[in-house]
Amino acid sequence: MEPLPSDWPTWDTGRLEAEIAGHNRRYWDDQAPSISDYDYDRLVERLRALAPESPVLRAMGPTIGALGAPVEHLASMLSLDKTYDEDSLQKWAAKFEGELVMTPKIDGLACSIRYTRGRLEVAATRGSGEIGEDVTINIRLFDDVPPRIPVDETVEVRGEVFLPLSAFHALEGDFANPRNTAAGALKQKNPDKFKAFGLRFFAYDVLGVPIETEHEKFACAKAWGFVPVEHALVRRDQVQAGYEAYVARRDDFDFEIDGVVFKANRLDEQVRLGATAHHPRYAIAYKLQGESATTVLRDVEWSVSRNGVLTPVGIVEPVKLSGATVTRISLHNWGLVQSKGLSLDATVVAMRRGGVIPYLEAVVKPGDRPIEPPAECPSCGAAAEVSGDLVWCRNPQGCRAQTIANLNHYAKVVDIEGFGQVWLEKLLDAGVLHAPPDFYRITAQDLVEFDRMGETLAAKMVAAVDARRAVSLPVFLQALGVRDLGKTAATTLAERYGTLDAVRAATPEALTELSKFGELVARHVTEGLAEKAHLIDALLEHVEVTPVAVREKPRGGPLFGKSFLFTGTLARMRREDAQDRVIALGGTAASGVSKNLGYLVVGSEGKAGSKLQKAEKAGVPVLSEDAFVELLERAEAESRATRSSEAQASQAQAPDGVAGAQSP
Ligand code: IVH
Repeated sequence: MEPLPSDWPTWDTGRLEAEIAGHNRRYWDDQAPSISDYDYDRLVERLRALAPESPVLRAMGPTIGALGAPVEHLASMLSLDKTYDEDSLQKWAAKFEGELVMTPKIDGLACSIRYTRGRLEVAATRGSGEIGEDVTINIRLFDDVPPRIPVDETVEVRGEVFLPLSAFHALEGDFANPRNTAAGALKQKNPDKFKAFGLRFFAYDVLGVPIETEHEKFACAKAWGFVPVEHALVRRDQVQAGYEAYVARRDDFDFEIDGVVFKANRLDEQVRLGATAHHPRYAIAYKLQGESATTVLRDVEWSVSRNGVLTPVGIVEPVKLSGATVTRISLHNWGLVQSKGLSLDATVVAMRRGGVIPYLEAVVKPGDRPIEPPAECPSCGAAAEVSGDLVWCRNPQGCRAQTIANLNHYAKVVDIEGFGQVWLEKLLDAGVLHAPPDFYRITAQDLVEFDRMGETLAAKMVAAVDARRAVSLPVFLQALGVRDLGKTAATTLAERYGTLDAVRAATPEALTELSKFGELVARHVTEGLAEKAHLIDALLEHVEVTPVAVREKPRGGPLFGKSFLFTGTLARMRREDAQDRVIALGGTAASGVSKNLGYLVVGSEGKAGSKLQKAEKAGVPVLSEDAFVELLERAEAESRATRSSEAQASQAQAPDGVAGAQSP
């Protein structure tokens, strides 16, 4: 650094800090800087030399929230779609033109760093994808993150914060894994302690600059002083080899990788493909296989699920998988046992992927003792029934295992604390608890009767129930244990209908208009709710179900008022994706032919069958897949144009909007 001119005052640290803080305020909050950037930088460098740990150096942005404060992302931070095999990767890659970029998927935390007028303004974790947590003061301490970039527009650099394995192993204390440690470290308030962790940041995305390819983004990030994640351009026929090369190098990196990310290199293709609410269609993570080990299957036990399915569990010779000893593996269902030709004493490969319970991956050598489906339910003794891939216990009322599983499910979903498996069994056997409404009738007197239950614990359990007498609609729906009505479906239903009465009144046809509700799911849900009418009514005597705000279907949109029905197999996209895209444009996905149907789309593969005949009879327009895609793309272009003119209008008021080159 050049010596300061002699006429510059020789401030002490305190005055220098106050001076810089004043300039910060004038620059960021008042947008009226009183000195040049050059002079400001000199002051900052001076302070850095005098007091490198000064808090003022960590707060050189606008007066924003503290560590952990909510930060709204300018463009949603989505997650990645996943694939586990080459086939589906190739199907995905066939949807766009041009090369692909390939990068390792680092197991860390996504972070977005925003620059305004060239200065690091705010950094935030991904959070919900819409709103993240402020981590600016710690991100400023990264050597991998420049405080300034030579660009005036608002720009976002996104990437992965991670803890190098070498740094993780050097830590003393009880740290579960690098990822969780990195997440904890980012929240560290003490700068010395934070720096001691040695977190790093690799950039994988740049938003807000007018460039044409992913590849250029990396060059851009690098030129600004970031470390871009390792990347390569590949052709379609090189993706599998590229993936395998990463598998082979997996242990060589100083960070954990859990997959390989592929993206369409051309941004115009990315814009054309767009995104679902969850992930962009132009990127995918080809996940690495989990750890596997060979062992011998000795026995099969049948466990009873909540809805009466008898599931086979393999008992195997103890084997080490990801550091834990495994003796039980999931065999999924009776169909899998048959299709794998499984027998007792077979040598099998057990696999664990992404932290889930280990399961049977392959049979290496068959055994010689056949496996039979159970003749009766291991819990209640009722005759078991084989139907397709599944074995059923059709005795829901009289089966202890099902009753307990249902009580357990209700307590878990509604989040009633203290009712673990052991207590549920005791309470059921004592006749205190049989169905979910009984939770709300339990008194402390009922409970103190039991061994190992004092008055304090009894009061606590009753209070835990009382704390859950108001239950939000999606939670209530999920807690009922209706087939196919899991968390996502319950949320979709609740957001569409708002109240329990409206959900109960919905027809299967109406449900098929919702995202991810096919005909079968719609039927299971409506039938399940009808079958459980008695349970619902009984629960309503004790529980207040709180409604949720109805999420309005997008009004307008280029396909507003038009319904689409698909038949045959689509060659260019999955049917669910086609439906999602129609819905995103304001249209609806129909479940059957009626004269009100907008279009019947006939897939290019397979036969169209009776729907086509019916549609022709009803005078419904029929589209080939190509014609449909053309219509869709035109509508998407129209919608983009509308949005960008809306965005321009709103940018006129808020000049700092990120002109997302790739935001869908
Ligand atoms: S590209 C739409 N590239 O994976 C997001 N992500 O499930 C596109 N990740 O939250 C991100 N390494 O934090 C990309 N080389 C890489 C990555 C990567 C890790 C994370 C990222 C994201 C998650 C997606």
